[in-house]
Amino acid sequence: MKKQTMDGNTAAAHVSYAFSELAVIYPITPSSPMSETVDIWSQNQKPNVFGQIPKITQMQSESGVAGAVHGALVCGGLTTTYTCSQGLLLMLPNMYKIAGELLPTVFHVSARALSAHALNIFGDHQDVMACRQTGFAMLCSSSVQETMDLALVAHLATLDTSVPFLHFFDGFRTSHEFNKIDVIDYAEMKSLIDENSVQAFKKRALSPDCPTQRGTAQNGDIYFQNRERANPYYAQTPQKTQQIMDKVSALTGRTYRLFDYVGSETAEHVVIMMGSGCLTMQETIEHENESSGKFGLVKVRLYRPFSIEHFLAALPKSVKSVCVLERTKEQGALGEPLYLDVCAALHEKGITNVSVIGGRYGLGGKDFTPAQAHAVLQNLADSSPKNHFTVGITDDVCMTSLSVDKLYHLPKKDCVSCLFYGLGSDGTVGSNKNAVSIIGDKTHLYAQAYFCYDSKKSGGVTISHLRFGKRPIHSPYLIEQADFLSCHDPSYLQRYELLSKLKRGGTFLLNCPYESLHDLQRFLPERIQRAIAKKQIKFYVIDGTKIAKDCGLSGRTGMIMQAAFFALNPDVLPYEQAMAYLKEDLTKKFAQKGQDVVEKNIAAIDQTLPALRQIHYPNVWENCPDSALLTPTDNEYYTKFMQPVLHLQGDELPTSAFTADGSVPTATAKCELRGRAAQNPQWIPENCIQCNQCSFVCPHATIRPYLCEETQQTPDGFDTIPALGIKDKRFRIQVATEYCMGCGVCANVCPAPKKALVMTDAEQLPSQPQNWKFAQTLSSATLSPLKRNTVKGSQFYPPLFEFSYACAGCGETPYIKVLTQLFGEKMLIANATGCSSIYGGSAPSCPYAVNQNEKGPAWASSLFEDNAEFGYGMRLALECQAKQKDKSIWIIGGDGWAYDIGYGGLDHVLALNANVNILVLDSEVYSNTGGQVSKAT
Ligand code: COA
Ligand code: SF4
Ligand code: SF4
Repeated sequence: MKKQTMDGNTAAAHVSYAFSELAVIYPITPSSPMSETVDIWSQNQKPNVFGQIPKITQMQSESGVAGAVHGALVCGGLTTTYTCSQGLLLMLPNMYKIAGELLPTVFHVSARALSAHALNIFGDHQDVMACRQTGFAMLCSSSVQETMDLALVAHLATLDTSVPFLHFFDGFRTSHEFNKIDVIDYAEMKSLIDENSVQAFKKRALSPDCPTQRGTAQNGDIYFQNRERANPYYAQTPQKTQQIMDKVSALTGRTYRLFDYVGSETAEHVVIMMGSGCLTMQETIEHENESSGKFGLVKVRLYRPFSIEHFLAALPKSVKSVCVLERTKEQGALGEPLYLDVCAALHEKGITNVSVIGGRYGLGGKDFTPAQAHAVLQNLADSSPKNHFTVGITDDVCMTSLSVDKLYHLPKKDCVSCLFYGLGSDGTVGSNKNAVSIIGDKTHLYAQAYFCYDSKKSGGVTISHLRFGKRPIHSPYLIEQADFLSCHDPSYLQRYELLSKLKRGGTFLLNCPYESLHDLQRFLPERIQRAIAKKQIKFYVIDGTKIAKDCGLSGRTGMIMQAAFFALNPDVLPYEQAMAYLKEDLTKKFAQKGQDVVEKNIAAIDQTLPALRQIHYPNVWENCPDSALLTPTDNEYYTKFMQPVLHLQGDELPTSAFTADGSVPTATAKCELRGRAAQNPQWIPENCIQCNQCSFVCPHATIRPYLCEETQQTPDGFDTIPALGIKDKRFRIQVATEYCMGCGVCANVCPAPKKALVMTDAEQLPSQPQNWKFAQTLSSATLSPLKRNTVKGSQFYPPLFEFSYACAGCGETPYIKVLTQLFGEKMLIANATGCSSIYGGSAPSCPYAVNQNEKGPAWASSLFEDNAEFGYGMRLALECQAKQKDKSIWIIGGDGWAYDIGYGGLDHVLALNANVNILVLDSEVYSNTGGQVSKAT
C-alpha cells in the first residue's frame, strides 16, 4: 500500500474503476471528476481488477444513466455511476427498480445541496437523504482516506448482499479535498473479492440461454407479498457489511464499524452525525474531554439499512442525552431523518432515560468549525437544551440558532497552515494542487489542501487552504489562523480583511507593483499597514504580474506566487529541490499547451527569487489613522446585502437579510466596482468612423457610443466629435474603466483604417467615472434617427445586461446584451443552467438592468434538465393571462362604444387608442384627458 496525495473523487474513482466492467456517466458538479477520471483511465487502457478495460458511456442525462445502469445490471454487467444533487434525484425512479430487483451496484455520490430557493453546488446531505426510501443501502465516508476504504467496503458488500449501495461523501469538502492517504492497490482489492458472489450475480443475468422474465405487472393480490419477500436480504446487510468492514480493516489496519464511537467511555452527552463534520466534532470532543471527559460521538457509516442493534451497541452505557446533528433540511417534518430514526430506535427498545435533540449545520457547504461543534456540545450539556436548532448561522427570524464563540479555536500542533488568495483563472488553484502533491508525495510530510471558489469559472476570488504536518491531518474546515498568507491580487486589500486570518509573526506575501516604502505607504490601506505592524508580520512583495507579463503569461501569476511560497518556506522543502519538482511538474502539466508555454513558465519561475523583496516597515505603521472606506453606492441593497457578501462576510448575514423565496432585485451588478483590468481601451476620436462595432462586441457592456446635442455642456475631458450623418449631434465612445475587463475584444474588432481604440496600461489612462456618470444622463436612443434593429442603431439603446461576471472576452454575453438592447424592456428569461446562469444569476449581484423607465428583463431559472419546459410554462401562463385580460380590459371610446383591446396594459392601450376618454383596467376605471391618465374618482 503506497501513500499518495489525492482528492476524495479520485479515491472513489480508483476503487469503483477496479470493480466495474461498465460505468455509465453524466457529469454534475462536484461528482464530475469521478466520471472524467475513469473515462481517461479507460481511454489509456488501464485494466480493472479483472484484467478488463471498463467501458465508459456518457448519456444524455442522469435519468438516461439510471436506465442504462439498470439495463446493464439486468444483463449481468458490473456497473457503476457517479452523481449528486438533482442529478441523483433524476435517478430515483430507477433506483427503486434496481433495488427491487436486488441488483448489486454502487452509486458514488459527492453529496450536494439541492436547488430550492437557489442553486448551490456545494456539499450537504439533502440529495442523499431523498434516496433513503429507495431500497439502496447507504454508506457514508467522512474523509478522503475513508472514501477509499469504504468505497471498497461498498463494492464488496453489494456483491455479497445483492443490495445496491449508495456510497456518499461530502461534496467539495471531501470530494475536492487533497490529502495524503494510503492507496489500496488492485492486487490487494482482488484478494478480498469473493468469486462466488460475482458468479452468482452473473448467473442471474437475463439471457436467452436460460430465459426468465423480470419487471412484470402485479395486481393487489400479489404485489404486497412480493414486496416483503426481499426483507431477509436487508436484514442480513448490516451484519454482512460489518464482516466486510472487518476484512478491509485487517488489510488496511484502519478499523470501521457500522456505527463508530469515539470519545469518553463514560460520556454522558453523545453527538450523532455523518460525513466530514464528524472529524471536526471528534477533534473538538477530544479537546473538550481533556478537561471534562463527558462527551462522545457516534459516526454513522451504514445509514440504511439502519441497524438498531449496532447503533445501540455503539452508545456508551453512561449516555444521558444525545444530539443528532444533520447536514440536511426536511421542510415540514417533525425533525430531520436521522433524528427521527434515532428517536424511533430508542423508543422501539423502550429506552426512556436518554433524551434526544436534533439540529442542522453546514447546509450548502457552510463551513462547520470547531467553534460550532463546541456550541453544539455546550447546548447538549445544558439543563434545557435547544431542540431543532441551527448552528453556524444567525437566525433572527425563528430564533433557532445557537450562539457560537467565534474566538474558540483548537490548538494546532506540528502543523503549518497557509492561505492563498487568488483570482479565478490566474492559476493559483492549479499550482497549489501541484504544490500539495509535490510536498505530499516527495517529502515525509502529510499534506491537506482545500480550495474555496464560487461557481464562476474565472474572475472570482479563489482561496486555497493548505496544511502540512508530520502527522495525518484530519481538519475538514477552513483555516482561521494561518502561518503564511499570500495575496495574488492587490485590489483584495481594499475589500477583504485578509490579515485577520494571519497569525501574529506570520508571513505575508503580496503581489504588487511597488517595493519602495514610499510607494507602499501610499498604496496600502491604513488598516493593512496597522495590522502588519501590530502583528509583527514578516512582509514580502513581488511584482508577479509584471514577471508573468514579461514572460508572455499575462494574468497567470499562480505559478510565480507558488515559487515565491517555496522561497519563503524552505523548511517545507529546500528551495532548489522544490524548483526542480515544480519544473518537472509544469513540464508535464503544460506539455499539451506547447513547449513554448513550458519554457515561459520556467523563465517566470527563474525570475521569482531575484524579484522577491522583504519590506522592513517602520513602527509608525502601527498607529496609522483610518481613512474612509470606498463605497461605490449608497444603495441600501448594496450596503446591507451585497457588500458583506462581496467582502467575504456573507456568513455573518442573519436570516432576516433574505427574502423567504430567494428573489433579489435586478440592476445591481453596477454597484460592484471591480476596476481590476491591467489595460483598458483608449479612444482616439480622430480615427473613429463611428461604426459602433466596439460596443456591439464588448462582452461586458463597458464601452458604449453616446450622442449629445451640438450645444450640450459636457464635463472636462468628455471629448466629442461631430456625429456622422446625424445633424447637429455630437458623438463619443465612452469606456467604463471601473468595470472593463481588459479583454481587448473591442480594440481587435475596431475596423477604422487607423485603429481608434488602443489597449493602454490602466495606470496611464485618466480615470473616467465622472465621464461615465455624465454619459448615463444622455438620451442617445432618442437623439438617434437610426433604426433600433441595425448594428449601429441598436448600440444607442442602453444594454439591459451589463458588467456580468463572465470571463473576460466571453463569446456568449454579446448576444444576450444585444437581445436586451432590442427587446430588454419586454423580456422574460427562462435561463438554462450553465455559464449563462452563473454569470447571469450568481447572487448577490444581477447583471440584468433596467432602462430609464425602470423596465427591464425579468429572470428565472429552473433546473439543468428542464429549461425548455420551464420556458414553455412561462409562455402558457402569459398566454392565459392575455386571454383573461381580454375579458377584463375594456375601453370606452369617445363614440360611446366599448372596445376589447386585448393584452397590453396601460401604455399599450394609450398608444393604440389616442382618442380614448375612459378605460376600465382590471375593474379600475381610468380617465384620459389630453394624454394625462388618472384614476377616475
Ligand atoms: N501557464 C499557462 N497557462 C496557465 C498557467 C500558466 N502558468 N496557469 C494557468 N493556466 C491556464 C490553465 O491551463 C487554464 O487553461 P484552460 O482554460 O485552457 O484549461 C487557465 O489558465 C485557468 O487556469 P486554472 O487552473 O483553471 O485557474 P485557477 O487555478 O485560478 O482555478 C478555478 C480557477 C478553480 C476557480 C476554475 O478553474 C474552476 O474550476 N472553477 C470551478 C467552477 C465550477 O466548478 N463551476 C461549477 C459549474 S456547475
Ligand atoms: Fe469591453 Fe473588453 Fe473592450 Fe473592456 S477591453 S471595453 S471589456 S471589449
Ligand atoms: Fe470607433 Fe472603432 Fe468603435 Fe467603430 S469600433 S465606433 S471605429 S472606436
